[in-house]
This record gives sequence, C-alpha cells and structure tokens, in this order.
Amino acid sequence: MKDGRGAVTICFTNNKGGSGKSTSCANLGYELSAAGKRVLLVDGDMQLNLSLSFFDEEKVLDMAGNGKNLYEAVSNRRDLQEYVISTPYENLDLIPSSILMSQIEYKLFSMIQREFTLKKCLKSITEKGDYDYILIDAPPTLGAWVINILCASDYIIVPVEASPWGFFGLANMFDFLNDIQDITDAAVMGVLITKVDERKNYYKQARDILDHFDRIHVFDTFIHVDSAVEWAQDASKPVSVYKRTARSAGEFKKLAEEISRYGSR
Ligand SMILES: Nc1ncnc2c1ncn2[C@@H]1O[C@H](COP(=O)(O)OP(=O)(O)OP(=O)(O)O)[C@@H](O)[C@H]1O
Ligand SMILES: [Mg+2]
Repeated sequence: MKDGRGAVTICFTNNKGGSGKSTSCANLGYELSAAGKRVLLVDGDMQLNLSLSFFDEEKVLDMAGNGKNLYEAVSNRRDLQEYVISTPYENLDLIPSSILMSQIEYKLFSMIQREFTLKKCLKSITEKGDYDYILIDAPPTLGAWVINILCASDYIIVPVEASPWGFFGLANMFDFLNDIQDITDAAVMGVLITKVDERKNYYKQARDILDHFDRIHVFDTFIHVDSAVEWAQDASKPVSVYKRTARSAGEFKKLAEEISRYGSR
C-alpha cells in the first residue's frame, strides 16, 4: 500500500453494468469507516447510486440540483474540499453526484490535460491527510471520465458478477487498463466476485476464467447474492446497519479486513 501521509484512493470500475460497483463501494466504505478508518466516498456516476446508498431520493436530487456536487466541481475545476458532505455515519463523508454527469465527457473535451482534471480537484483532499481512503464509484463506461477516475486512483477494484455474461468483455477491460498505463500508475488491487449464488455453478466457472488472467489478484472474500443488499439500498442504509446478521454484511466486513491487510501482503 502507498507509503506515508495522504489518502489511498481506490476506484471501482467495470464497464459491464450491474456488476456490483456501487454496492461494493458503499458497503466497503461503510465497513472501513466502522473499523475506524476515515473514508471519503466519491459518487462518479450520473445514476447517483452511491449517494442513494446513504440518503433518500429527495435529498439526493436536492444535492444533485444545488450545485454542490461532483459535476459542478469538475466542470469548473474547483477544489473538491468545498463539496464534501457528512453521511449519517462517523468517519464517512461523501461527495455527491449529479444527473448532469452525463455531460461531463463534453465538458472535459476542451480542457487542457483533461485526463488529470479529477486528480487535480482531489489534490488538496488527498494531500491533507484527513482521510485514510478515498473510494470512487465509476459508471459502467470506459470513456474520458473513467480515465479521469483511473488517473486519480492508486488502486482499482474490479467487481465481477458471477453470471454467464459477467465475464464477457473482461479481457477487453484489462487491455484498456493496460493501454492507459502510460498516463496512470493505478494498479489493479483485485477482482471482487459478487452476487454469487451457490445453487448455480458460476462461481467455480468464474474462478477458472480468472485463473487465465495472469497476475490479476482475486480477493479471497466474495459476496453472495443476498436480498438484504436490496432491502438495505431501499432504506438508503449500509447492509450491516440494515441487518447486522445478514450474510453479505459479514462478507463486506471481511472484505474491508482483506483490503486493510493489502499493504502487508
Ligand atoms: N450481493 C448482492 N445480492 C443481491 N443483489 C445485489 C448484490 N449486489 C448487488 N446487487 C443488486 O444488483 C444490482 C447492480 O448492483 P450495483 O448497482 O452495485 O452494480 P453496478 O456495477 O454499480 O451497476 P452500474 O454499472 O449500473 O453502475 C443492484 O440492483 C443491486 O441491488
Ligand atoms: Mg453503479
């Protein structure tokens, strides 16, 4: 893990939609904060799912419309420190998103050194040392905005759904991550297998497929399909707050421990 002062920035990316990026980002963020780490979540997606994980729809739409969101900050190249809000949980803050994020690619287009816009907006937060982790939720695309997210990150977590189509296109995504190594130092921390249903055989199949990707770490922890995840999202709560005994709650806690240990591997 990165040495010295300053936050470790991890993004959740996979251009395959519905692979569990927002769910993993929200719950991992909560579990790290519950373990005493100071965490900042950054909602990088116009779907606002990370924000909705902690606030109800009315509040999220208000934040999306009141100018204090990631879209406004990045498109005007502002210091993101002014855009941080507290969540209801100790040690856990959020920079909300906006539905206008759908236009961010156009905004970036004319900017000089556009790949590094988010990195620059985050610079003072990263360096100040107020957070141990900054977790960024990426949208299911691989355009200029996701390149911005990758360039602002130290590590990448790739959530992959254990389903027949969950692996489709994964090789292309790793090629893409390889191609941009000239401009970013972000390293793949690991693949997180999500929505595992043991009645089906996809988990084993998933491990077999991932074994073919040389040097890609697969987290020991994987996340089972669990209806508590959806109930918790409906209530805008982390799963372990919604139902402490839920299977997925224990798994996200284990994942947080695994990631905290990452540096000592
Ligand atoms: N472990 C789980 N058990 C049950 N449902 C889950 C689980 N993880 C995620 N889901 C559900 O699967 C859907 C997709 O999850 P999520 O939104 O986290 O994926 P995503 O990769 O962020 O999607 P997108 O690409 O659209 O941003 C959501 O409806 C979520 O509630
Ligand atoms: Mg998402």
